[in-house]
Amino acid sequence: MTKVLSQNAEFADQTTLAGAESRGAYDGLRHALEQSPRDVIQEVAESGLRGRGGAGFPTGRKWGFLQFDPARPPVLLCNGDESEPGTFKDHWLLARDPHLVIEGILIAAHAIRAQDVFLYIRGEYESLLPLLMGALEEARAAGFIGPDVLGTGRCMAITVATGAGAYICGEETGLMESLEGKRAYPRVRPPFPAVRGFAGRPTVVNNVETLANLPWIMRRGAAAFHALGTEDSPGTKLVSLSGCISRPGVYEVPMGYPLSALLENEGGGPLPGRHLKAVIPGGTSVPILTAEEVATVTIDFESMRAVGTLLGSGGMIVFDDTVSMPHALRSISHFYATESCGECTPCREGTGWMAAIVDRLLDGGARKDDLDRLLRIGGNIEGRTICGLGDAAVQPVRSFVLKFRSEFEALLRDTIPRLEPDWQAHGHGPRTARRGAVGEEARRSEAVTGRPTYRW
Ligand SMILES: Cc1cc2nc3c(=O)[nH]c(=O)nc-3n(C[C@H](O)[C@H](O)[C@H](O)COP(=O)(O)O)c2cc1C
Repeated sequence: MTKVLSQNAEFADQTTLAGAESRGAYDGLRHALEQSPRDVIQEVAESGLRGRGGAGFPTGRKWGFLQFDPARPPVLLCNGDESEPGTFKDHWLLARDPHLVIEGILIAAHAIRAQDVFLYIRGEYESLLPLLMGALEEARAAGFIGPDVLGTGRCMAITVATGAGAYICGEETGLMESLEGKRAYPRVRPPFPAVRGFAGRPTVVNNVETLANLPWIMRRGAAAFHALGTEDSPGTKLVSLSGCISRPGVYEVPMGYPLSALLENEGGGPLPGRHLKAVIPGGTSVPILTAEEVATVTIDFESMRAVGTLLGSGGMIVFDDTVSMPHALRSISHFYATESCGECTPCREGTGWMAAIVDRLLDGGARKDDLDRLLRIGGNIEGRTICGLGDAAVQPVRSFVLKFRSEFEALLRDTIPRLEPDWQAHGHGPRTARRGAVGEEARRSEAVTGRPTYRW
C-alpha cells in the first residue's frame, strides 16, 4: 500500500532536519516555489485532496475562494487543536515527522501568498513543543522559513500558538477568536474566513494532516495522488484506532479500504474471547455503526455517508460485547455538555439536558418517555447553532438510542415498576436503588469476562 504520510515515520532521525532531508524533505517545497501560487492551487485542486479535519472540503477549492488584497494580506492557520475524542493522528504526525508538516504548511503559504502562518496546537499537546520548536529552528536556519525563503524573495513566518484545552478552539472561527486573545466563541458566517478571518484578514484554515499531504503531491504530481484511493476521495487516510481492539494505534490506509479489513489486519481483531459490537468511525461527533454496518463500509467520504455516518477525523473507536452502550453514551454526552462554549442557547442548554437524562437512565429517576425526550431535544439542537458542536453532540445520542434501543429500554423497564412505588413508600430517591441494580449486573458479567463490564 502506498504511503503518503507515514512512509518515513518509523525512522528515529526523521524528527531532525538531516534525517528528514536524507529522505527527500523539502523537495516538494522547492518544486512548489518554482511554480506560481496559482499553479500550485491548480495542482492541489487536480489532486482531489479533501480536508482531513472533519468536513472533507476540497482543499484547492477552499484556497481558490481567497481574494488577494494587498491591504489585507492573507493568513494561513494550521489547525492542530485535535480535540475530537478518539483522534490522535495529528499528534502522531507532529511527533514523528514535524518537517513533513512544516513543509506542507510552507507549500500552502506559498499557494495562498500568506506571509503569516499560525500553527495552533491544543494545550494538552505542550509536550510536543520542544520538538516542534527545534524543527522550526532548524528549518529557519536552513532558509526554508524567514524573510527570503531559499533565495526566492518570499517571506514566510510561522508562529506556534497553544490553546488551553477547549474543544471549541478547534472550530475554525473559535480558533481565530482564541488566536486574537479572546474567548473562543464561534463567529456567525458570512462573512466566511476566506473573506474576513483572523484579524479581519482573508484566512485559510487547514488541518495538520491535510497540509502534510502537500509535499507528496508536489513531488509526485496531482495525477499520482488522484490515482490513490477512490475517484471522489483520493489519497490515503490516517486512522486513529482505539477502544476494544488488539492493536490500537495510528494507521495509514488508502481511501476505499474496507473498515473490516482495518480492524482485522491492522487492528489485529477483537480482544481474545470478545466480539465486535460497534464502531464510531470519525470521532465521537459522527453516528455509530453496528457490527453489521461495519462489514459493508469502506474508509472514504462517500461510503460512510451512504451508511448514514461520516468519515470525520478518522478517529475510530471500537466497542465489543462487554461495553454497555448507555454507559458509553454517558461519557460522550458529558463531554459535549462540558465543552459546549455556551454561546448558543440550544447547545448550551440542550447538551446539559441530554447528559442529565442519560445520567438518570443509569442512576435512577428516569421517566417512561425519556428516550423520546432525548431524541426530541436532539432535534431541537440540530441546525440551530452557530457552529457544528451542537450537531456533533446530537449524533452519538441519536445513533446510540436508535441502534441500541433495547439496552436503553432495559434501563426503563428496570426502573419504573420497581422504583416508583419504593420511592413513594420509603421516601428515598430512585437514584440509590437504581445504582444497586447496575452494580449487580456489572458484577454478574464481571464474573464471566474477568474484567469490569462498564468500561469506557
Ligand atoms: C466543534 C468543532 C471542533 C473542531 N475541531 C477541529 C480540530 O480539532 N481540528 C481540525 O482540524 N478541525 C476541527 N474542526 C473543523 C474546523 O472547523 C475546520 O473545518 C478544519 O480545520 C478545516 O480544515 P480542513 O479543510 O483541512 O479539513 C472542528 C469543527 C467543529 C465544529
